[in-house]
Amino acid sequence: MSTVRLGPIPLVRGRLRVPGDKSIGHRALLLNAVAEGAATVRGLPAGDDVHTTRSALVALGIRIESAGEDRVRVTGGGREAWLAAGPVDCGNSGTTARLLMGILAPRASEPVTLTGDRSLSRRPMARVVEPLRRMGAAIEAAGREPDRLPLAITGRPLEGAIHRLPVASAQVKSALLLAGLAAEGETRVAEPMVSRDHSERLLAAMGARIDRASGGVRLRPGRISAIDVDVPGDLSSAAPFLALAAAREGSEIVIEDVGLNPTRTGFLDLLRAFGAEVEAWVEANDPEPRGTLRVAGRGLKAIEVGPAAVPGAIDELPLVAVLATRAEGETRISGAAELRVKESDRIAAIAAGLGRLGAEIETAPDGFTIHGPTRLDGAELEAAGDHRIGMALAVAAALAESPSALEGAQWVAVSYPSFFEDLASLAEARTPA
Ligand code: S3P
Repeated sequence: MSTVRLGPIPLVRGRLRVPGDKSIGHRALLLNAVAEGAATVRGLPAGDDVHTTRSALVALGIRIESAGEDRVRVTGGGREAWLAAGPVDCGNSGTTARLLMGILAPRASEPVTLTGDRSLSRRPMARVVEPLRRMGAAIEAAGREPDRLPLAITGRPLEGAIHRLPVASAQVKSALLLAGLAAEGETRVAEPMVSRDHSERLLAAMGARIDRASGGVRLRPGRISAIDVDVPGDLSSAAPFLALAAAREGSEIVIEDVGLNPTRTGFLDLLRAFGAEVEAWVEANDPEPRGTLRVAGRGLKAIEVGPAAVPGAIDELPLVAVLATRAEGETRISGAAELRVKESDRIAAIAAGLGRLGAEIETAPDGFTIHGPTRLDGAELEAAGDHRIGMALAVAAALAESPSALEGAQWVAVSYPSFFEDLASLAEARTPA
């Protein structure tokens, strides 16, 4: 357990590049592993989660070689038979576990058991297991609970199906598309709201027969070809710094070469609604929009976040709670029950941390209400085994009047190993008034 001491940061100014996008990094490895041929993935994030995907694929017999500091060469070769010598560890990563289930369900030639850490083993898997079973998948509990890891998957011929997801989830959607690629007949996935579409973009670029015109995604089975992927910076990793700049009047921050996929930029809209100045320039689209972002702090006013805004900002909602403590009025977030089944129960974890700092926060089953602004005083904080809670509470600590201590700070390495160094450099780079 590592503890980091965090003092108040009155102003941030500077330019930054953040680590590669975690969601795109996972997919660049997983989809190229399924594809025919070999490809190079550049800008892969160094965080633990994407490393977990890499190790899991290697355990399943995929060749992945280092090709430079943040580059790897993946040789998928369109293998038909996937197998592993022992259980495949998915660590803390829901994306690894759920997408691998979709890959293995039609392809594993012998039973493969997927395991996870304590947090991942508590997270619901029925949302992916049940629709895969409707396609003919053989997935069995290998532990005590029926729809939790460890799960054993035996490859079976699958049939395409029409799925209507009760909850918008890119992980579930992607798993079903990966299974559908090797199924008989077409697969359709409709969601109540559009979740991130990185898989769809990559599949289309790899030659999959996929279209999105018909009220969801439709995919016909077939082979895909490996392609090189250049991973843009992760907007979710930039978000803590954007929040800090937005909350401190006079602050300004520029993030270079960051992913600006419209299914991920909901947090930018929320920052604008809070009253921050936000500019985004898309400079390339290959197949992911990427470019430069600038956020400047002005006074914040309370906002209302309803269910329609949730999928596009899902991983940034703990930061919205932090910003609400600095905003004038009552901020309400609803329709976000999904936060309860992330790496931690993020509603409970952020409320506990902000409450300790002096925020006025009330929780509901699907969100929270925050009355602002309140004075925040330094406190003993706890990352709750969750990288996003660790980073959100670090921002809250930077906005407090006195020093805090964050326990479990090592968890930020799941997505952003150099987060605290980058935070310190932005605080130091400020220009005196
Ligand atoms: C992710 C999808 C989202 C997100 C998670 C990463 C992905 O989860 O919260 O951090 O890479 O597909 P859901 O698919 O469960 O909504």
